[in-house]
Amino acid sequence: MEIVVQPDGAAVCRLAADLVAALVAARPSAVLGLATGHTMVGVYEELVRRHGGGLSFRAVRSFNLDEYLGVPPEHPGSFHSFMAMHLLRHVDLPPAQARILDGLTADVPAECEAFEREIAAAGGIDLQVLGIGGDGHIGFNEPSSSLASRTRIKTLTAQTRTANAAAFGGEGQVPRHVLTMGVGTILDARRCVLLAIGERKAAAVAAAAEGAVTAMVPASALQLHPAVTLIADEAAASRLARRAYYDEVYAGKPEWQR
Ligand code: F6R
Repeated sequence: MEIVVQPDGAAVCRLAADLVAALVAARPSAVLGLATGHTMVGVYEELVRRHGGGLSFRAVRSFNLDEYLGVPPEHPGSFHSFMAMHLLRHVDLPPAQARILDGLTADVPAECEAFEREIAAAGGIDLQVLGIGGDGHIGFNEPSSSLASRTRIKTLTAQTRTANAAAFGGEGQVPRHVLTMGVGTILDARRCVLLAIGERKAAAVAAAAEGAVTAMVPASALQLHPAVTLIADEAAASRLARRAYYDEVYAGKPEWQR
């Protein structure tokens, strides 16, 4: 895993946007795996700014990691609303090419299987952008998720419901169930970028990058992926034991690899 520490959250978001923008510029029909959440707000702000500077998403296809079950797309807490508000309303990515799981589906297994089939039909995900939960989740794969899991229903932990309470007007209003790409689905992406901002993520970041690979820290499964970049700010990186080494590796990265 490549580990890159940036001075602050804004720099994390800029670097993540650089990676997405470079891919889209080089391959206009790239398939992106997208995330939601606080961490992603700054990344989308950057991408919208770059769209203003000429970056086009017209031929891009995107697949979002997850959606709340039973929440209509127009609900302000839904990830449909999040994506519209922070990205899709502001760039030229056609709505029909931006796939988000249907939280109102009457047939959960069929919706999850269709989602997996659509990713495969698109040729797989070129770049999956990920945030990390304070409990080590990626997507909404909470601790104990199978590291081979595919898209399916999951139950949120109390910790995750608390973290997402604001969008629903209180913890009691946060749905218990979600649809999420599985850990195995995420690992199929050709490249993954894991973003972490803030002290609240420090323990999960250290466990994911330096701990054992375990279903108790689903993000640790990324250690099994050959092309992962973890971008963390100083606070989120504060518990990494090998920090000096990661800085040395990044500073000495050959130009041809950048
Ligand atoms: C969201 C998602 C989650 C978040 C994670 C971090 O689509 O899949 O894994 O990335 O919960 O959320 P924030 O960025 O709000 O701390």
